[in-house]
Amino acid sequence: MISGQKPLYGTVRMASMKNAALPIIFATVLVADRCVIKDLPDVSDINLSLEILTYMGAVCERNGRETIIDTSGIRPDCDIPLDLVNKMRASYYLVGAMLGRYCHAHVGYPGGCDFGTRPIDQHLKGFTALGATAGVKGGYIDADAPHGLYGAHIFFDVVSVGATVNAILAATCAEGLTVIERPSREPHIIALANFLNACGANIMGAGTDSIKIRGVKALHGTPDGEMIPDMIEAGTFMAAVAATGGKVKIENVIPKHVESITAKLIEMGATVEIDEDNETVTVERDPEKPLSRVMVKAVPYPGFPTDMQPQICALTCFAQGTSYVSEGVWDNRFRYVEELIRMGAHIMVEGKTAIIEGANPMRGTLVTAVDLRGGAAVVIAGLAAEGITVIDNIKLIQRGYDDIVGKLKNLGAEIRLVSFPD
Ligand code: UD1
Repeated sequence: MISGQKPLYGTVRMASMKNAALPIIFATVLVADRCVIKDLPDVSDINLSLEILTYMGAVCERNGRETIIDTSGIRPDCDIPLDLVNKMRASYYLVGAMLGRYCHAHVGYPGGCDFGTRPIDQHLKGFTALGATAGVKGGYIDADAPHGLYGAHIFFDVVSVGATVNAILAATCAEGLTVIERPSREPHIIALANFLNACGANIMGAGTDSIKIRGVKALHGTPDGEMIPDMIEAGTFMAAVAATGGKVKIENVIPKHVESITAKLIEMGATVEIDEDNETVTVERDPEKPLSRVMVKAVPYPGFPTDMQPQICALTCFAQGTSYVSEGVWDNRFRYVEELIRMGAHIMVEGKTAIIEGANPMRGTLVTAVDLRGGAAVVIAGLAAEGITVIDNIKLIQRGYDDIVGKLKNLGAEIRLVSFPD
């Protein structure tokens, strides 16, 4: 429950990036040894992935900032219950990791946010290129390489984070050289390569247009798996400050990762300063000064992230003039728009573009988090709107934001968790 129109002031620290931590957690299956990972975020997707590994026979222990994951004892034929894997998208990283370790994978089809169709053809293309037979049947993804996996040239038809992760996982211990062309260049791909290299892999070029992997026979555990900060959490807080006005220092950010978001917020009239330590950004906006309209197109990294598209759309509802927010990654990522309209926003969706007539009075009401980032969008709208906003279904927000309520409250937001009888 949010009582809106309170400017945000103070300092807030970002958690580690969920979408970078997930590939690393599932990569420990391939490592088959004891790994220590630092600063995993406390969000439900991370806790669920540890639960899945534990079910498979791994030992997972959280000790303060460190999480120890030892996958040496996992059962190769373990049938993971479907209701565990289909609560999240990233569970399909198990296919690449199991295939890489055992030359065999049988994993339930994943779930995740509903953005229209979410095909996995590029994942299967990668496995097949490496010598496996791979397909989907009866709710499961199966991949088998009875004669082993062999390095190959993989050219992806679309830029896919998930397919790039799965190809890296399957190729790390394959025999010979794999070259992945048109991979995702997201920071999480670099983080995964750094982690696997620390475990003895030989992966070059992560973050560029071409990744080269020389297969190694086996990996070893690492005592120090470092995480990277969550650029989407940082972008969400940056947008929140721009929406409410105020001044907030956001710690644990890699400014380069949020460059495309920074550029749009500056265009809209906020100021964003990078501190000398290069790990803190300060966002400021005078609550009395209006925001300007903006045009945004969400595309793969290093462009404006699709995972910030709903939050920037919420922000444009408070800007003067007509803004255009286009989605260039997913078929259907505008389900949250109806929730903003409920609050008073004037938004029309035409194809993959939302046209927002900004600065219409927004008033709190009962809204729903339709998915993780759509949920963040209604939080931003609620913080800047007049009156009380009640957000339902917040478990979807908790999949990816570590203590969003506590962090916003510390910045002066009037926000609290409430329960209503069913
Ligand atoms: C990841 C993120 C998600 C983010 C998305 C894009 C995780 C857990 N999730 O999702 O939050 O929105 O990246 O940055 O990290 N595609 C195909 N065939 C495939 C795979 C993908 O056509 O085999 C298409 C998809 O339909 C989509 C585009 O490629 O249009 C990008 O998808 P992808 O990068 O794979 O997204 P995810 O890895 O699922």
